[in-house]
Amino acid sequence: MSLPKRVVLVGPMGAGKSTIGRMLAKELGYRFLDSDRIIEERCGANIPWIFDVEGEDGFRQRETAMLAELSQYPQTVLATGGGAIMREENHAHLKRDAIVVYLKTSIDQQVERTRRDRNRPLLQNDDPAAVLRNLFAIRDPIYTELADIVMFTDRKSPRLVVRQLVNRINPRTPKHKRQIRKEGRNHA
Ligand code: S3P
Repeated sequence: MSLPKRVVLVGPMGAGKSTIGRMLAKELGYRFLDSDRIIEERCGANIPWIFDVEGEDGFRQRETAMLAELSQYPQTVLATGGGAIMREENHAHLKRDAIVVYLKTSIDQQVERTRRDRNRPLLQNDDPAAVLRNLFAIRDPIYTELADIVMFTDRKSPRLVVRQLVNRINPRTPKHKRQIRKEGRNHA
């Protein structure tokens, strides 16, 4: 299997999409794109502000336009927001020439990883765990349906997740890299 044009990471808040995406991009020699961060840069405002002023609907419109644009670039790892799969029109953008990876994570881990976060408007309430549980019930089947690879991230370091992903995406890469390293040593 040769490398895909794009690797698209989907999954809930707190799954580690940005951390893992950045490391995976480095490993594959791809460019890393984070849809939420680019929306914020373009808008000149953070996500809570966008939700506040334009509502979730306004944010979703920006997200759809952003995914349509970002799905054009080759050799990229794209981290998406947890709700990017909720609009069916986004699915074609997410899947275009891509391997879609679902970073699957337990509710406990999601709660733990988002505990101190103030940048996620959907979790700024008395019971973020209940919100995450509800979202999981709705979204897990959609993530699963879209995904080419389902990767569990609980109790795994980002480094381990990335290693396992590289093996799944392109089984030849590690061997090939080992070969290059070996040749480098022989010529030293
Ligand atoms: C959202 C997830 C967030 C962000 C927005 C909405 C969601 O992204 O897009 O706050 O609906 O799950 P992360 O999954 O990167 O936190």
